[in-house]
Amino acid sequence: MSTLTIFSSVPARAAEAEAVPVATSRPIPAVLGADLEVPVKGGRLVGYANLDYAASAPCLEPVSAAVTAALPAYSSVHRGAGYASQLTTARYEQARHTVRAFVGARPDDAVIFTRNTTDATNLLARCLPAGTTTVVFDTEHHASLLPWEKSVRLAPPAFPGEAVRAADAALAGIDGPKLLVVTAASNVTGELWPIAALAHVAHRHGARILVDAAQLVPHRRLNLTALDLDYVAFSGHKLYAPFGAGVLVGRRDWLADGEPYLKGGGAVRSVGDDTEWHDDPEPRHEAGTPNVLGAIALAAACDALTATGWTALVREEERLIARLRSGLASIEGVRELSLWGDDHPRVGIVSFTVAGYSAREVAEVLSGEYGIGVRDGKFCAHPFVRHLLGEADGGCEDGTASAVRASIGIGSTQEHVDRLVEAVRDLVNR
Ligand SMILES: Cc1ncc(COP(=O)(O)O)c(C=O)c1O
Repeated sequence: MSTLTIFSSVPARAAEAEAVPVATSRPIPAVLGADLEVPVKGGRLVGYANLDYAASAPCLEPVSAAVTAALPAYSSVHRGAGYASQLTTARYEQARHTVRAFVGARPDDAVIFTRNTTDATNLLARCLPAGTTTVVFDTEHHASLLPWEKSVRLAPPAFPGEAVRAADAALAGIDGPKLLVVTAASNVTGELWPIAALAHVAHRHGARILVDAAQLVPHRRLNLTALDLDYVAFSGHKLYAPFGAGVLVGRRDWLADGEPYLKGGGAVRSVGDDTEWHDDPEPRHEAGTPNVLGAIALAAACDALTATGWTALVREEERLIARLRSGLASIEGVRELSLWGDDHPRVGIVSFTVAGYSAREVAEVLSGEYGIGVRDGKFCAHPFVRHLLGEADGGCEDGTASAVRASIGIGSTQEHVDRLVEAVRDLVNR
């Protein structure tokens, strides 16, 4: 069992949960599967170098421990009078408080458990006031690009200030309710977006802002209140909690007024000739038996990262990503994808192309010969990757061009990074 407490008592109010002091500077926790061995060409077994965290991160040990600890008393949530049911309900609600504190949400913000980020953005899309226009950059992941009924799409901005200027101009031209949607850290380049400035601009035009934090929260602290964000969405499985839960956090009013996301038990106060739906966003949008273990896992990941402290996590990640980027940059024919240049701050994600090889060929060689797991393709961000490849490689009109993405996090090692660099170098020199 983890030394991190997943449940002690359930605070009556979120504010109390936020006031609970969290010990800092614990050692960086381990991930499950750190000793996984995989077969490579010739039948040898080698230690797996997982460099695919941006797709889905391995499970943190404290997360696994929290789930294991919750299982013996596992029971129904919000329904049973039995002790186990009350305990499980309390754990589920405590998870909500933990997530609220983790993102620095306002005390009255809704915290709705979803399946993942995609589910969270779609939930918000269904709750937008009638006639809402969404402003979204072409750089977004499809989860944040596609759910909107009425949207204005903005071209990839040439520099961060241009993103703010373009959002400003677009929002100024829209009447009625408006929502700016932006990803905090790109899943393609890892680059950080100026979300505070974008929030400021959105609010100046009476708009709200949704931040897709799927790739930010595993790598950096996020404070919704300090940044003045209206909504954030992220996934447990990218945050070392691969148990099928995600979350939407943010202002209650649109969520309280929106059509219940799922219609069924739990979302209703009473059903007779008329159906009386809950006004509170959490029960209103969480009909059916929720993913309790997913929520407990997600909260345990939040606790574990907070207890470790962001300084240590960021320092180690920056050391490894700098090594990876400079290693790749030293290989002729390797080109890193970047929107805003080499020096722009980013999280532990690097996408690149290798001259003379398709991304699929590179990924297959890395896996089959070196035991390295990376992603290849357009990373569910087709317009953005097309834009980047179009610039980097003189066009990709055939629609087949794609890139290789290496991404790191807790459990990544210098050996993994060096192995990738040397494998790519070997490939180029063949
Ligand atoms: C920035 C970003 N947003 C949203 C998503 C979608 O996350 P999920 O597949 O968990 O819904 C991803 C996944 O890659 C992502 O990187």
